[in-house]
Amino acid sequence: APVSVTKICCIGAGYVGGPTCAVIALKCPHIQVTIVDLNQARVDAWNSPDFKLPIYEPGLVDVVKQARGRNLFFSTDVDKGIQEADLIFVSVNTPTKKSGVGAGFAADLNYVESATRRIAAVAQSSKIVVEKSTVPCRTAESMRTILEANSRPGTRFDILSNPEFLAEGTAIEDLFKPDRVLIGSLQTPEGLDACQSLAAVYANWVPTERILTVGLWSSELSKLAANAMLAQRISSINALSAICEATGANIDEVAHAIGFDSRIGPKFLRASVGFGGSCFQKDILNLVYLSESLHLPQVAAYWRQVVDMNEYQKRRFSKTVVDTLFNTITGKHIAVLGFAFKADTGDTRESPAITLVRDFLQERAYVTIYDPQVDEAQIWLDLAEALPGVPLENIKKQVTLAPSALDACKNKEAVVIATEWKEFRDIDWAAVYAHMNKPAFVFDGRLLVDADALRKIGFKVTTIGRGQRA
Ligand code: UDX
Ligand code: UDX
Ligand code: ADP
Repeated sequence: APVSVTKICCIGAGYVGGPTCAVIALKCPHIQVTIVDLNQARVDAWNSPDFKLPIYEPGLVDVVKQARGRNLFFSTDVDKGIQEADLIFVSVNTPTKKSGVGAGFAADLNYVESATRRIAAVAQSSKIVVEKSTVPCRTAESMRTILEANSRPGTRFDILSNPEFLAEGTAIEDLFKPDRVLIGSLQTPEGLDACQSLAAVYANWVPTERILTVGLWSSELSKLAANAMLAQRISSINALSAICEATGANIDEVAHAIGFDSRIGPKFLRASVGFGGSCFQKDILNLVYLSESLHLPQVAAYWRQVVDMNEYQKRRFSKTVVDTLFNTITGKHIAVLGFAFKADTGDTRESPAITLVRDFLQERAYVTIYDPQVDEAQIWLDLAEALPGVPLENIKKQVTLAPSALDACKNKEAVVIATEWKEFRDIDWAAVYAHMNKPAFVFDGRLLVDADALRKIGFKVTTIGRGQRA
């Protein structure tokens, strides 16, 4: 029969595990939730008395304030967390492999495997183990093999897949009101019981018709599929944006028109300088790798094209900047507004801004960056990684970081909008114009600003997906 869960442990206090389990604690005061992580600094930040949490997410501080110390705890004592729990979420990082078989495509499952082995090594009672990290299809099976081969007599492990669909920047909203919760299990009596145990946790705040229960592998594949389809929409609209720029059609009008078709729908059709984030590219490359492993090269090629189009979009945008600035930006001064991969997050993983800045630096321009949330240290880390072999002192000769958008734009030839922070729309653009070198250019990579209003001020404006006159 399903067990009634009273103690949850979450291994991994990152972007996924932290917010997800904080919300579970908030919504289930009768369940003790302990989030454990090997990273002491991260755990300390989660525990910080003034709530300087390690990740920025609107509404998160409120949730942690209400639950921390009541039934929500953060700790580095992984073993104790495992031993006490009836249900364990594995929510560790699964980056793309950098070397070895499948390098550049396959997920690095090292962290999932060590966490799983730790569970096997220290558990003294039966556990429901829930795979939360996005992982390739059939990872649950490997976890099951490891756990079963190492379990003590009388302890059993049931594996579930429960992928997280939250988007950064709206994580708390998404967790409070998820479109759906997906739980995959083996279709055995024990598997179905475990599934019901976890479903009962979510049922504390999620309507039961939104809790979908499916087979283990369908659940794993659905996560990859959802992200691949979402990214595919962006690559499709971005491909159309290139046609618009070449013809004088307007991508806003096209997106609006096609979005009215109820079969297509209006969301996620915003042309941009390219998608970023920790999931889209990684998950598609996982799907590509999976397809190739299954000897389905046409399927692999189909999905790979979504990533190729995204690379092309970023390259195309940097080239537009160079072309428009009279075919050279050497020695020119460019302000880049936004460094996060999207608005309302401090996360820079796979941010298109990194690629743009790298391209500008390789053209030997001077770049000034402003982002309202990204840590300065993170910007240096990302640029150093994007320019292997270039010493950081040299990068720092070409790049400065500004304390505000207005400061960033002072005495520059061009402003490039790389992230759709709302504050960039509300900048006093007339004041910016007054302080820029002339002619003053704006490149809007996010369809953010009112191009006509800016032209009236005197700016030369280039917008993704619009012909020069549109
Ligand atoms: C995504 C999925 O949305 C989420 O369900 C999954 O759990 C994790 O991956 P996230 O990466 O946090 O979430 O952000 P998302 O809002 O999906 O944006 C991803 C990228 O696409 C961003 O760079 C964003 O700017 C870009 N984007 C999004 C567009 O360029 N145009 C759009 O219309 C939407
Ligand atoms: C299509 C567009 O729907 C319509 O808006 C446009 O004006 C003309 O082209 P039509 O070709 O008549 O209309 O039929 P549609 O229902 O779109 O189906 C097209 C094909 O896709 C059919 O072969 C259908 O069987 C197939 N299809 C459709 C699927 O295989 N799966 C689906 O989920 C939907
Ligand atoms: P995600 O976006 O998937 O949440 P993050 O990198 O933000 O990824 O978070 C993953 C967290 O998991 C990191 O804080 C990392 O320290 C932690 N972690 C990785 N492996 C283990 C492990 N074996 N035990 C405990 N924590 C781990």
